[in-house]
Amino acid sequence: MSAKPLIIGCGSYLPDKIVTNYDLAERIDTSHEWIVERTGIHKRHIADDGENTSDLALAAAQKAIAHAEIDVDDIDLVIVATTTPDQTFPSTATRVQAMLGMSNGAAFDIQAVCSGFIYGISIAEAFIRSAQAKTVLLIGAETFTRILDWEDRATCVLFGDGAGAVVVQASTNGLDDDEPAGSGHNQERGILSTHLHSDGKLNDLLYVDGGPSSTKTVGHVRMLGRELFRHAVVNLAAVVDEALEANGLERDDISWVVPHQANKRILDSTARKLKLPAERVVTTVDRHANTSAASIPLALDEAVRDGRIKRGDLLLLEAMGGGLTWGSCLVRW
Ligand code: UT7
Repeated sequence: MSAKPLIIGCGSYLPDKIVTNYDLAERIDTSHEWIVERTGIHKRHIADDGENTSDLALAAAQKAIAHAEIDVDDIDLVIVATTTPDQTFPSTATRVQAMLGMSNGAAFDIQAVCSGFIYGISIAEAFIRSAQAKTVLLIGAETFTRILDWEDRATCVLFGDGAGAVVVQASTNGLDDDEPAGSGHNQERGILSTHLHSDGKLNDLLYVDGGPSSTKTVGHVRMLGRELFRHAVVNLAAVVDEALEANGLERDDISWVVPHQANKRILDSTARKLKLPAERVVTTVDRHANTSAASIPLALDEAVRDGRIKRGDLLLLEAMGGGLTWGSCLVRW
């Protein structure tokens, strides 16, 4: 029987510096009212000049490792989902591996923009199910504000910096040790499924106008916001149904939706489609803005630590981002 991937710990980190909508309105032609009405965002955290994606990633990883009560040497794979790596190469994951003092295992970055954490969890799941790894440290980390065009009010108000991490470990049966299988008090825990999608024909809806091969510059974020919004609402509803159907579950079975945090209006519309009260959607976009690959693990960590998410809860994680890429993950916590 293949090993079951269990999430055994989580952690997150936000830079100290907070920038409010009012601060932005002093620099660009925008207002607190416009940003709140169109996005639900009130403020965002921004990394200091000397603070790199790997620093944010390390801080989140250390908290996840402590929460999981494992030793760094237990980790045999480090994955960093990021669109804003420290350098074009080597990967930010290898930098984090070194910062953690690890000298074994493997490390690599993955790039799926705002869907990066979902893509990462799918890779962690596959490595564990195929017995290629036993303990995976998966981090979503971004200094996304570094690639913003601060003259473009349609994008620069939307994003923030941060990092979140989980430890995913192989379990033989996905069950609590102290609860015998079939006791009626227990259900299989862990990552139940992941579903990934992309459609590269839609590159132009959200992209960066630079890169080492095409322009030799880093570039800035460009977005066709309104069109992207329409795709987000349709694609996210579809992946939710896809995930439930694959597991023989109903919408009512979902305890918490832990979505990518792009826009409060997208979260509300997903909740309406699922007929779930908005309180069942873990929401951080008001305080974090859109932190790309970091947003799901940041939201997850918050809801685990404040006690909303409890053992046995069914979590639906979903995201859509540049590519376009989108996907979902169902987890029994
Ligand atoms: O994380 C990846 C996935 N990302 C998404 O899914 C993002 C999806 N898109 C969105 O969240 C929304 O489309 C935005 C928040 C980006 C924009 O909201 P919108 O309601 O679609 O606004 P809009 O782009 O259609 O712009 C409406 C108006 C325009 O003015 P006119 O042409 O109507 O006169 C914009 O120039 O709002 C203006 N505007 C602003 N006004 C004040 C755009 N940005 C701002 C701003 N402050 N920051």
